[in-house]
Amino acid sequence: MFKIVVLISGNGSNLEALINACKNKIINGSIDLVISNNPSAYGIERAKNHSIDFKIVDNKRFKTREDFDKALVEKLKDSNPDLIVLAGFMRILSSVMTKTFKNKIINIHPSLLPKYPGLDTHNMVIKNGDLKHGVTIHYVNEVLDGGEIIAQGEMPVNANETYEEIKTRIHRIEHVMLPMVVSKFADGTINTEKIIYEKFK
Ligand code: GRF
Repeated sequence: MFKIVVLISGNGSNLEALINACKNKIINGSIDLVISNNPSAYGIERAKNHSIDFKIVDNKRFKTREDFDKALVEKLKDSNPDLIVLAGFMRILSSVMTKTFKNKIINIHPSLLPKYPGLDTHNMVIKNGDLKHGVTIHYVNEVLDGGEIIAQGEMPVNANETYEEIKTRIHRIEHVMLPMVVSKFADGTINTEKIIYEKFK
């Protein structure tokens, strides 16, 4: 069975989408472990509700990024994951993690990278009057949102659309795209060509 570990920091709606996709056999794999750096992340409740093993690695307890990553590697080694999915995981990983799990860590980011790495992407889109926005799934390296792009999904931005409206639509796209991409990993059909999903409405 293809083993997936999901790292979260907050709400975990993308985690929920992955859990459902595994249950519905859209993904031929199982989520063996959820790790949160935030002890009060709602995503932990979601893992509990589905009886998925979870661990908390609180970054505040570590002096350096590398020490935190070493603790993550320790927790992850037992699970021996085929794929590590960062789904709203708000930490930059160091080479301690990225070298240990080379080409096995992916992240979902709410913008059309390389545009708008980092936080606050929806506000940037509004502020700059962008006509399109979207979601990127990429490999993780030590550069914030800087790894090789695997897939992108694009949507038009409507006139006068609010932050909340944009956020809702982006989430809807994420919840479709992330399971689709993870299922390709599980099936071994991910290749080096960037996947562009049709325009979302
Ligand atoms: C998503 O928009 C994801 O792209 C970003 O953080 C958000 C996490 O949402 N990295 P959730 O915790 O999965 O609900």
